[in-house]
Amino acid sequence: MSKSSERQIHLAAFNYGGMYGQSWRHPAVDSTMDFSLAYQTEYARTAERGLLDAIFMADESSQARPPSEMDMLKRMSSSTAFEPITLMTALAARTERIGLMFTASSTYYEPYNLARLVGSLDHLSAGRAGWNLVTSNNVNEAPNFGRPIPPHAERYARAREFYDVVTGLWDSFDDDAFRRDKESGVFFDPDKLHAVNFQGKYFQVRGPLRMARPPQGHPVIAQAGASEPGRQLGAETADVIFCAAQFMNDSQAFFADIKGRAERAGRQRDDVKILPGVSIIWGSTMAEAEDKFDAISKMWPLEIAIQGITGGIGLDITQYDPDDLFPELPPSNGIQGHQRAITEFAKRGNLTIRQTAQRLAASIKHRTLVGTTQMIADDMEAWFLGEACDGFILIPPYQLQGLQEFIEHVVPELQRRGLFRTAYTGRTLREHLGVPRPPSRYASA
Ligand SMILES: Cc1cc2nc3c(=O)[nH]c(=O)nc-3n(C[C@H](O)[C@H](O)[C@H](O)COP(=O)(O)O)c2cc1C
Repeated sequence: MSKSSERQIHLAAFNYGGMYGQSWRHPAVDSTMDFSLAYQTEYARTAERGLLDAIFMADESSQARPPSEMDMLKRMSSSTAFEPITLMTALAARTERIGLMFTASSTYYEPYNLARLVGSLDHLSAGRAGWNLVTSNNVNEAPNFGRPIPPHAERYARAREFYDVVTGLWDSFDDDAFRRDKESGVFFDPDKLHAVNFQGKYFQVRGPLRMARPPQGHPVIAQAGASEPGRQLGAETADVIFCAAQFMNDSQAFFADIKGRAERAGRQRDDVKILPGVSIIWGSTMAEAEDKFDAISKMWPLEIAIQGITGGIGLDITQYDPDDLFPELPPSNGIQGHQRAITEFAKRGNLTIRQTAQRLAASIKHRTLVGTTQMIADDMEAWFLGEACDGFILIPPYQLQGLQEFIEHVVPELQRRGLFRTAYTGRTLREHLGVPRPPSRYASA
């Protein structure tokens, strides 16, 4: 059955093996992946061959003090990782079309530094940069910055100011500011340069940023907050929202909520793309796919799987018996969206702590989709047409080979159904995503 739809599925792929903790042990995985430019280049080029919108590098704990238990740390490939923006800059020179998305924290950066770095990446990549604005939730980041992690509400208040400063700095020069008139000697038109002069509670930034406006105007902004202030900030400011949804009805509710908030903030529904994470385990038969999932799950020692869950919910659950049913937990200062999703997953499946941890470990707490080409494509089509998402962020748990399998088998099936592009039609990440290039605040004023 072939269907065509004007809406097209948008796809990004996690490129960060360290997220999966144990996947470096998989026989198909190059165990140097997190810290090998050759591997990262091959991964980005594979995503580009598959016509994906972007690769995405998470950065949840790399700025953090390593966990104190050396017995745990010594097992983690993420014990060494590239800094995301410098890696994306290297990949910009080695690819042509793929979007380059990475994570940086509004809690532990200064907006001036970040505006400069991301603006520069957008220029170097000819408009392919995307920044995942996170507010940080890992308490182990704090000891590297000399200040404690602020409470949840304050992190989001700071994030809002951070966003205003960064986008204000990107607007420093109008798009047509540069005359470069050799005859008169005038390089730029001074009327087209603006200082943001931001005076807020958290930041005082004069500007301007000494950099031409980025090719995308504002590089793409992604967010992944699921709490009330996280959703509101995302709906008002993000082009892409990542989320962790285990069930289609939850994702539909999240989708409707974010699109509604975006409209109430004066935006078009389609200007914010919602991409839930999904870990894909493909097989030529269901039995083969299940065997693969089994092999991956078994690579996770129980205490590491439980630690992964603990990181997700921001609470220590090691005092419980792993064979107890997953407990009701009070709200934490950590990732509220993840906490809700994990608890709900355990409750619906009537799962113990051990079962919950083992099932969620390899997918870093996201949904796992185990199946054949048709099953995976059917599921994606149902979520997409059922307005549970605008696409997906793919989490191949054995990395390059997993991405290759997806591109070889599932992408052609999505194309056959008219759900996914058969060639890139744009150059910039905004064009891939179908989100508008924002006008400068000064030009529109
Ligand atoms: C797909 C996805 C990727 C994420 N990547 C990161 C990341 O790289 N770094 C990080 O600190 N948080 C990351 N998060 C967590 C969120 O950005 C956010 O900080 C978290 O959900 C806390 O916000 P909340 O309390 O509003 O839910 C990610 C979440 C999702 C769903």
